[in-house]
Amino acid sequence: MEMFYLIAIFGLIAVAQAADWGYIDSEENDEGPESWSVNFEACGGKSQSPIDIVSADLEIDDSLSAFSFQSYSSESVELKLTNNGHTVNIGLVSGDQLMISGGGLPESFLFEQFHLHWGESNANGSEHTVNGKSYPAEVHLVHRSSKYRTLGDAVDQPEGLAVLGFFFEISEEENEVLTPLIDALANVTEAESSQLIPAFAIESLIADGLGDYVRYSGSLTTPGCFESVIWTVFDTPLKMSDSQIEAFRSLEDVKSEPMVGNFRPVQNLNERKVKRYSNDQASGASGYSVGLFALPLTMIVATLKM
Ligand SMILES: *[C@@H]1O[C@H](CO)[C@@H](O)[C@H](O)[C@H]1NC(C)=O
Ligand SMILES: *[C@@H]1O[C@H](CO)[C@@H](O)[C@H](O)[C@H]1NC(C)=O
Ligand SMILES: [Zn+2]
Repeated sequence: MEMFYLIAIFGLIAVAQAADWGYIDSEENDEGPESWSVNFEACGGKSQSPIDIVSADLEIDDSLSAFSFQSYSSESVELKLTNNGHTVNIGLVSGDQLMISGGGLPESFLFEQFHLHWGESNANGSEHTVNGKSYPAEVHLVHRSSKYRTLGDAVDQPEGLAVLGFFFEISEEENEVLTPLIDALANVTEAESSQLIPAFAIESLIADGLGDYVRYSGSLTTPGCFESVIWTVFDTPLKMSDSQIEAFRSLEDVKSEPMVGNFRPVQNLNERKVKRYSNDQASGASGYSVGLFALPLTMIVATLKM
């Protein structure tokens, strides 16, 4: 009998937490982002994500460098697409271990999953904004520190996670790289459904966006909002067409309503600094070593660009 009550109580807690948050602030319920901190204390913290990235306030950081990606071009990975009621997750089921290092990270980080955030229209949808401007969508590649054995172990630890964010802008043409994902979306329309996807090299998804980036310390952008994330947001947006973004908008959320506007509004920066990495700084063009050695290199680069 006692056991029954315990199970019943834990069951209720689990259900309440699962259904307890959404993206719409309203008077009828306290599920929207403004109220997340009622049930998830960390959401009211001082180092929350996303943020508005203000170009004029960025500081060049010489300790930042380009990333190196290990096994991101592998097709020997099994990926599963899951509609979790808030977004669509593309997670690693088995196969090669994908790993990032460099990029000013304290150690190597292992790939866990990627997912997207998008708007009801193209007017908004990204979580981060740049000088107040939203993009129609944003993808997050979530990695856990190699210090931890599982995502669960890392998720609430300082610097436990490294997330790479890329914006999407709308292109006339379809982005063919996305086709296997978009095709599989039709099979995960309902919350809690999932689908294995054919061989897909994650490098092809992000290749066009690699380059300059910003770096800051922040949080998960969904409850529990743990302040465990080393954030990297790349400057150059990726592309998808209107019909491709519509496929994401056709999904249903946890309430069987259209899954749109699944982005958290920007949070206060507070005491944090946002650092910038630029390819130019790596070639010496913006360092203190601009001199006789830097000059020929700059000229070579200029020649190549022509
Ligand atoms: C996003 O844009 C839509 C218009 O398409 C607007 O109705 C909505 O209020 C915007 N959401 C936010 C959070 O700014
Ligand atoms: C969707 O599900 C059907 C039925 O299981 C399957 O035949 C089809 O291959 C799936 N589509 C994709 C793109 O995975
Ligand atoms: Zn995200």
